[in-house]
Amino acid sequence: MCADKISTAPVALITGAGQGLGRATALRLAEQGARVVITDLDRALLEQTRSLSARPEAFRLLVQDVTSQDSPRQAVELAVDAFGGLDWLINNAGIGKAKSAAQTSDEEWDRYTDINLRSVFRFSREALPHLKPGRGCIINLASIFGLIGHPGVAPYAATKAALVGLTRQMAVDYGPQGIRVNAVAPGIIETPLTAERIRTDARFKAVMIDTTPFHRIGTPQDVANAIYFLCSDQAGFINGHTLTVDGGWSVGNYVASASL
Ligand SMILES: NC(=O)c1ccc[n+]([C@@H]2O[C@H](COP(=O)([O-])OP(=O)(O)OC[C@H]3O[C@@H](n4cnc5c(N)ncnc54)[C@H](O)[C@@H]3O)[C@@H](O)[C@H]2O)c1
Repeated sequence: MCADKISTAPVALITGAGQGLGRATALRLAEQGARVVITDLDRALLEQTRSLSARPEAFRLLVQDVTSQDSPRQAVELAVDAFGGLDWLINNAGIGKAKSAAQTSDEEWDRYTDINLRSVFRFSREALPHLKPGRGCIINLASIFGLIGHPGVAPYAATKAALVGLTRQMAVDYGPQGIRVNAVAPGIIETPLTAERIRTDARFKAVMIDTTPFHRIGTPQDVANAIYFLCSDQAGFINGHTLTVDGGWSVGNYVASASL
């Protein structure tokens, strides 16, 4: 048996970890001693993620589309074969840039639901039999737009709101087995998903900063820290929760320019 298989360090599976929040989470969890299986569409991106870690030996890479029939089984099998089990599933892969309902085609709707929602259900179903009582957890990447309304993001918001509901449901179903299921709901975080709009739409950037009590856009590390906390024993009695990571953007009608 290889040394990896007798280690007690947690084993994490993170989808969409070639960039952005998935990459930051993979680096954070590896920094904390976890062994990580990272998946994405693009091998070069996955290799970049691994190369940024001080513990490249803790990584296993898998190129796959989360919507493919065999992807959940292949990813979980890699964790089990390489590291002897699976402890933390981070359902991160997702797409953004949606439109309003009237502008959304059937094909676009199906693409959002397949990637952002159906894959989360299918990866979770595959992982659950492997998660151990008192140790196993699932984290779903929701969004503040799954909690409150925002213009022009109908299919995105619908899938992220559904993830909040799925998180609650799985927490109730699997809590009795000692498995925790939580979500994070990031605000606007600067990643490749949002970078172009932040760079080219000065009004959007100004409004987001002006309406955030912390007066800044979020960083991938902000979200990775929250995910690590929810995975850790420190969050041992937190189950079914959706943790917003948005500098206070969603809790009020804060506008800096209108502050007293
Ligand atoms: N960045 C934000 O402001 C923000 C805010 C709220 C929620 N989120 C959510 O966080 C998650 C990560 O967002 P991000 O900003 O890092 O996005 P990103 O676009 O920078 O990275 C997403 C990664 O997922 C991968 N991916 C996309 N579709 C895939 C598929 N079908 N199969 C496999 N991999 C696929 C991409 O290749 C990419 O590497 C998403 O679920 C997103 O909805 C992001």
